[in-house]
Amino acid sequence: MQHNLAIFASGTGSNAKKIVEHFKHNPNINVSLVVSNKADAPVLDMARSNGIPILVIGRPFFYSTEDILKIFNNFPINFVVLAGFLWLVPSYLVKAFENRMVNIHPALLPKYGGKGMYGMKVHEAVKAAGETETGITIHYVNERYDEGDAIFQAKCQVAPDDTPEDIAQKIHALEHRHFPEVIEKLLKPQNP
Ligand code: GRF
Repeated sequence: MQHNLAIFASGTGSNAKKIVEHFKHNPNINVSLVVSNKADAPVLDMARSNGIPILVIGRPFFYSTEDILKIFNNFPINFVVLAGFLWLVPSYLVKAFENRMVNIHPALLPKYGGKGMYGMKVHEAVKAAGETETGITIHYVNERYDEGDAIFQAKCQVAPDDTPEDIAQKIHALEHRHFPEVIEKLLKPQNP
């Protein structure tokens, strides 16, 4: 089966880049579209330089129409990856991609998740709580922030003198190591 991925990202897109690189020579898995809600997001430059079509969305388009599904049909997208996308996914899209849409969160959910818990805010909260470990969670997406079923977690230590920036670095390293591989495993046929 051919898998055509759409990656949603609003920022730097370092995870999106790792995923693109990981699947570049895979004949069965193709990153077919990069979607962003920010027209100037660096992730879009990464997509352009890899020849991947891009789609910039606004709130009315995303929340008041279902037109993105029609655009998806052109590729045709059959798996969605959220990698640093901060908007809540509307229920029509969650339903259309049930068990075929995943997100990565930079903490060990259910800790440090939910609306407003993103980026450095997560690592600052981990530091403030004096945690000795943190990690990443890859999970299915449902209609609530960071609450879909967990698929994979990986941990790292937090040293007493780690700054939130140090923690962010450790987390990014974990994300880059695991996210593409977890996606690949999910897309492998269950009964080879
Ligand atoms: C990652 O830390 C991810 O966990 C979170 O957003 C961040 C995106 O980073 N959801 P990048 O843009 O991929 O570098």
